Amino acid sequence: MKPIIIAIDGYSSCGKSTLAKALAARFGFAYVDSGAMYRAVALYFMEQQIALEDDVAIAKALENIHIHFEYNPDQQRNETYLNNRMVEDDIRSKPVSDLVSPVATIKAVRTAMVNLQRKAAVNKAIVMDGRDIGTHVFPTADLKLFMTADPKVRATRRFAELQAKGENWSMEEVIENLRERDHIDSTREENPLRQATDAHVLDNSDLTEQEQLDKVSIWVNGLLNAKI
Ligand code: CDP
Repeated sequence: MKPIIIAIDGYSSCGKSTLAKALAARFGFAYVDSGAMYRAVALYFMEQQIALEDDVAIAKALENIHIHFEYNPDQQRNETYLNNRMVEDDIRSKPVSDLVSPVATIKAVRTAMVNLQRKAAVNKAIVMDGRDIGTHVFPTADLKLFMTADPKVRATRRFAELQAKGENWSMEEVIENLRERDHIDSTREENPLRQATDAHVLDNSDLTEQEQLDKVSIWVNGLLNAKI
């Protein structure tokens, strides 16, 4: 398989990882959820009670944080591991969702995660989703997507997703979390969420998962044909 990189960025909960996973499955690409990495760091900081102002403790913590992903065939999902512990559910909890965007503003955290993300893509065909993938992590990605969706649609989808997992969030909490993260993510100093000038914009408010997959697959096929 030719090494190609597909970068998917966009606001919180607008279906980036759903699309990224579906593309990876359809085309046999590797998939990396960069948000899961920031969530794993936030979980570690929470558990170790690391203050976000403590640069020394943060530098030490980053040396002790090891993140990897494994596919679980029984659950049919990619799972995030923090220091060899499976944390896929813990990183989606409310306390982590509230802490992750402040953690992701920290320069040392971003530098460490971006290094990991770049290493993960060496000589691979890969799809990666996040906030700064097309603008900063892989500015020369072969295909860049910027996803958006109506905030009400996004909140409704995330609420349903959390309910299905048995997570106890009210609709107001979901709306507030998405609003707060979008605000922090797009106004932070270090590589804020921005649409890359060469990104395809995909508003999926009125698209089904299948429709968005089919639409983007046309672009991916064009890319693969051009690469031969
Ligand atoms: O799934 P959802 O879109 O809600 O979020 P996520 O992809 O799990 O990302 C969680 C948080 O990590 C984001 O709100 C950002 O604060 C941060 N993040 C980031 O700063 N840069 C990335 N490349 C990916 C995520």
